[in-house]
Amino acid sequence: MVKPGVMARTALGGSLLLVSQSALFGLAVLPALLFWQFTLARSRNFGVLEPYGRYVIVATSLIPAYILFAVFLMFLSAGWNRLMRWRTDPGEHVLHDYSWTVIRWGSYNASISVVRIFCGEAMRATPLWTYYLKANGAKIGKGVYVNTARLNDHNLLVLEDKSVVGGDAKLVAHLVENGMVKAQAVRVGKRAVIGINTVIGPGVEIGDGSAVGAMSFVPKGTKIPAHEVWGGVPAKPIKHYTEDEYEKKGAPGIPISY
Ligand SMILES: CC(C)(COP(=O)(O)OP(=O)(O)OC[C@H]1O[C@@H](n2cnc3c(N)ncnc32)[C@H](O)[C@@H]1OP(=O)(O)O)[C@@H](O)C(=O)NCCC(=O)NCCS
Repeated sequence: MVKPGVMARTALGGSLLLVSQSALFGLAVLPALLFWQFTLARSRNFGVLEPYGRYVIVATSLIPAYILFAVFLMFLSAGWNRLMRWRTDPGEHVLHDYSWTVIRWGSYNASISVVRIFCGEAMRATPLWTYYLKANGAKIGKGVYVNTARLNDHNLLVLEDKSVVGGDAKLVAHLVENGMVKAQAVRVGKRAVIGINTVIGPGVEIGDGSAVGAMSFVPKGTKIPAHEVWGGVPAKPIKHYTEDEYEKKGAPGIPISY
């Protein structure tokens, strides 16, 4: 039997999510439509080529209009999440209580999914993507390169200076286990590299200058010391670099001069 309080919270939380995401999406589409309309209105008459000349103008303004939409969606979404204080709270929360903590966590990650689906693949690896992640709560240092849209729980991600998150790596700071949402921050140290398609679980810490090989899985709570190379499923130590080697080569992937 579902408690009335739970039903009320779920209905309210679900409705707020649906209405807010629809409104933010609509607001983000608006500048793109205006831009499109403006381009069309200003395009000259192509005489005998009409209507095809105008079709060409409309078609070539599709990508700029999409970028406008994506930028608006990313930053409206991040602003809304801040306003509503949607985030992932660290700790363990009973999923089926649908407490406000769980609803905030669900709404936060749902809004992240909306941005990932509509903007992530096109925007990842660009500075705009990094700004969005920061605006949405991630702690990101200088010179960080994030080539993936597969990030959850942004407010629990710490990417320190000059770290690299490789293509399609997945960083997730929560797991649902035994009916509990268990959330813990993920930290990627300075100049650390996460290989392509790697999966990093909650509570993982990757030491400064370390690397995780491509296609690896780093289970929850794993602490990788500084200057080490790990890889595999689950990831295990492969190499250790001495302080000396690290200073000389900038091991394992990022030159010290970077
Ligand atoms: C893990 C990695 C850093 C190792 O590179 P390296 O230091 O040059 O090491 P080597 O290629 O000499 O391999 C050393 C050992 O690790 C193993 N290994 C290499 N990559 C591995 C991986 N992804 N998973 C598991 N084991 C791996 C090798 O098979 C080798 O094992 P062996 O000693 O038993 O033969 C590299 O293979 C890698 O995956 N880099 C990720 C690059 C990347 O995705 N960057 C993201 C930005 S584009």
